[in-house]
Amino acid sequence: MGTAIARRFAARGNLVALADLAGSNLEAQARALGDRAAAVPVDIRRPESCDAAVAAVLEWAGRIDILVNAAGVWLEGPAADVAEADWDRVMDVNLKGAFFLIRAALPHLPRGASIVNIASDAGLVGNSGAAVYCASKGGLVLLTKALALELAPRGIRVNAVCPGDVDTPMIEFQAARYGNGDPEGYRRALLAHYPQAATARFITADEVARMVDYLCEPDAAPVTGAALAIDFGVTAGY
Ligand SMILES: NC(=O)c1ccc[n+]([C@@H]2O[C@H](COP(=O)([O-])OP(=O)(O)OC[C@H]3O[C@@H](n4cnc5c(N)ncnc54)[C@H](O)[C@@H]3O)[C@@H](O)[C@H]2O)c1
Repeated sequence: MGTAIARRFAARGNLVALADLAGSNLEAQARALGDRAAAVPVDIRRPESCDAAVAAVLEWAGRIDILVNAAGVWLEGPAADVAEADWDRVMDVNLKGAFFLIRAALPHLPRGASIVNIASDAGLVGNSGAAVYCASKGGLVLLTKALALELAPRGIRVNAVCPGDVDTPMIEFQAARYGNGDPEGYRRALLAHYPQAATARFITADEVARMVDYLCEPDAAPVTGAALAIDFGVTAGY
């Protein structure tokens, strides 16, 4: 999703810094976007790495107008099987990392800046068998709302996007890791929850990118503190 969002912003002529773990194919992804994109290695679990990444972007681009937190890791399985290290990894990437990247950027964000956090449908409703992931994304939603209030006087907007199942490497990982040898069956089971029934499909990363793009537009000036679902209605009720 981060790549799709970066591609969209780059196509509009923005300078775009792609930040991800070193060795995550980052350089190639940035190169593919041309000379208005840069690769910035970061491990958002570490606040000092977030600070260094923001400093690198400022040195390269001179300013930061938009920050999108799109890093994330998935975990599922019975709560009784969750090790402390699993809890820490999910919380450190999905919640702590997003916060400290925002903290690093905050002193530099001008009036009119926009922060978008990619949360999840699992940040709006419970997802049986994914308690830790839900806790991290639910936390990210309320972090978004609290920061929206705090930063409103500075003219900075903060929103969360809450996608359902998006066709990205994360879904491939989930299907391979948790599909009990039947990744296709796992993918089918995900879509079985959708109200569209037989016509349900995965959301595309570009569809999410378009929503993120809108949220960063001046047209979206009144939209802050929102947690916008893009999920074919899976969180609308049952
Ligand atoms: N794919 C889905 O169905 C789906 C649905 C709802 C929400 N989400 C959320 O959307 C966001 C984007 O997910 P995606 O589907 O593109 O997943 P993805 O696995 O394709 O991308 C996630 C990226 O996060 C990076 N990352 C992991 N740990 C990091 C760290 N410590 N520091 C820096 N980067 C790190 C990974 O290297 C990876 O490139 C995530 O927050 C995810 O939880 C995904």
